[in-house]
Parts: sequence; C-alpha cells; structure tokens
Amino acid sequence: MAKRKRRNALPPPPSPPVTQGLVGPVRSVRSGIPRPEYALTGEPSSRASRAVRTPDEIEAMRVAGRVAAAALVEVGRHVRPGVTSDELDRIGHEFMIDAGAYPSTLNYRGFPKSLCTSVNEIVCHGIPDSRKLADGDIVNVDVTAYIEGVHGDTSCTFLVGEVDEDSAQLVERTRSAMHAGIAVVGPEARVFEIGRAIEQSVAPFGYGVVREFIGHGIGDQFHTSLQIPHYHDPRNDTVLLPGMTFTIEPMINRGGPRLDMWDDGWTVATRDLQRSAQFEHTILVTESSHELLTVPADGPPAEERFAGVRCGLDTSGDPAPTG
Ligand code: MF3
Ligand code: CO
Ligand code: CO
Repeated sequence: MAKRKRRNALPPPPSPPVTQGLVGPVRSVRSGIPRPEYALTGEPSSRASRAVRTPDEIEAMRVAGRVAAAALVEVGRHVRPGVTSDELDRIGHEFMIDAGAYPSTLNYRGFPKSLCTSVNEIVCHGIPDSRKLADGDIVNVDVTAYIEGVHGDTSCTFLVGEVDEDSAQLVERTRSAMHAGIAVVGPEARVFEIGRAIEQSVAPFGYGVVREFIGHGIGDQFHTSLQIPHYHDPRNDTVLLPGMTFTIEPMINRGGPRLDMWDDGWTVATRDLQRSAQFEHTILVTESSHELLTVPADGPPAEERFAGVRCGLDTSGDPAPTG
C-alpha cells in the first residue's frame, strides 16, 4: 500500500527551540519623567475608558507614537547576530528616557523590562534576557512609550543575519497582513472588517492566525476595553468613529494557531514550535480614513525601513540602512 502523505505536514523549524536566558536588574527611570498610574504598583487602572480621544489627546498621541516609532528604529539598527535581547532593551530604554518618555511595559502588570523581544517560535511578550540572537533568528521587538499622558505602541519583526527564505516570507506576509487590516480602517467601518481582511490576506499560505492576543484601544491607558481581533469575528460589529485610537498587531504562525505559556508567566510560544511573526502600529480613525501614529518624525517606520533587510550582515559600519 502506498504510504499516505500527511496533509499540511510542515518541515521542522529551522532552529532548535529558544532557550531562556538570565533577566538583568530593573532599569531606572529618572525622577523628572512622568509615569503611568501603574508604574509603582504594577496594577493598571480599572476605570472605564473613553473610545474617542479629544483633539489634545490626539496631538499627544502623535508625540507618543513618534517616540515609540523612533525608539523601534534605533533598536532595529542594533539587531545583529550576537547581540543579547537585554542589550536591545537597554538601547530602547535609554532612547525613550532621553526623549522624556516612560517605557510603558516597565512594571506593567509586573513586566520587568522596557520592551518585549520575541524570538522565533515566541509569539509575544518575550522578556529581554542574556540570550544572544543567533544568525538566522527572527525577532519581534515591541516598544511602547508613555509621554504627555498617553501611550504609543508599535512593533516590528527583524531578520537576524542569514534568515531562511521560508521565515523571511512569513515575516513579509505578516507585515502585509497588518497593512491589509489597516487599509479597511475608516469612519463607519466595523471592527470585524479588520480581522476579516487580515485572515483573508494570509489564507492562501495556510498560516495560523493567533486568537488569544488581539489589538486594543490605547490612549491614556495602555490597553482600553476596545478589542480588535485579528481573525473574522462577525459578532464584533462595533462601528469605528473619528477620534478612536487602537492598535492592529497580528501574530501569524508558520504552523497552527495554538499557544503555550512559559513558566515565567509572560513568554508565549507556539505549541508546535513553528515560528511566529508580528507587526504593530497605533492607528487613529480620521474623518476620511485613518492615520498611522507610530511613525518617526524623520522618516519611515521600522517595518518599512527594515523590510527584507538581513540585519547585521553589512559589518562595514552602519548595521542597517538609515533610510
Ligand atoms: N506592547 C504589547 C502590546 O502590543 C503589550 C506588552 S505588555 C507587557 O499590547 F507587559 F508584556 F509588556
Ligand atoms: Co499593543
Ligand atoms: Co505592542
């Protein structure tokens, strides 16, 4: 009898599972920097949040978005084989502090670091530690900055050195999926259209769309009650209104959508250990369509600058294009 070929069988992931490193001491924030309400206790406010921002809040969110986006580009310029994720955390931390911003993840529900670094099969919320990035890894860096009373949240998945074509494709298609979701944002659109567009954009590739973690309203609170699923959920028919601000941050897996949590209580991995990619922008709904808030003042966002770039291969000086 002919051996039946298992449908959807994937080749094994291109690298062994990520190992946990050592988490360094908490970095300090100078006293002049205004902090979010949870900075001391770790507990975010539970008060109800408004979905629509005031004009002043929107102006502040442009500032917070610009700082987060610029910090992400700066971190990206240091991604290369051999750098530790803790070193990336230091670079992002210092950039935000120098800009007068508080790194929003620091002590958010007790999270110990100033950004998240999620390598290979890690889906999100990886804690920067002493592990060195390896040639061929992919790493998502997720930066959130708090300044002028509001948060800006953005992430990019970087290619570390000689990344295999399959992983590079996953990363680029995840970036396209985020943009497919963003493209439908405008007044009168319904929330489910975003996830529907994302799901449709990756459907041809058989990827898993993560369901347990979703986009979120953002403003004076890091996460508001507004939920933005990255899959089609027809029950979420909330109508978008000008002045709403939220993130779109799809996590797309090479394999299945199922997840596991590490025993550190933060790090989320794919159950099948296949790789996962993610991109994130903070978006404003405008009168006519939408505006990306997480764009640096001086050029394109990291997702655009680093698209297709194998970080760290050009050792001639500048580790990455500066745009
Ligand atoms: N930046 C993540 C998001 O996109 C949240 C990180 S919260 C942390 O929503 F506690 F894990 F840092
Ligand atoms: Co977010
Ligand atoms: Co984020």
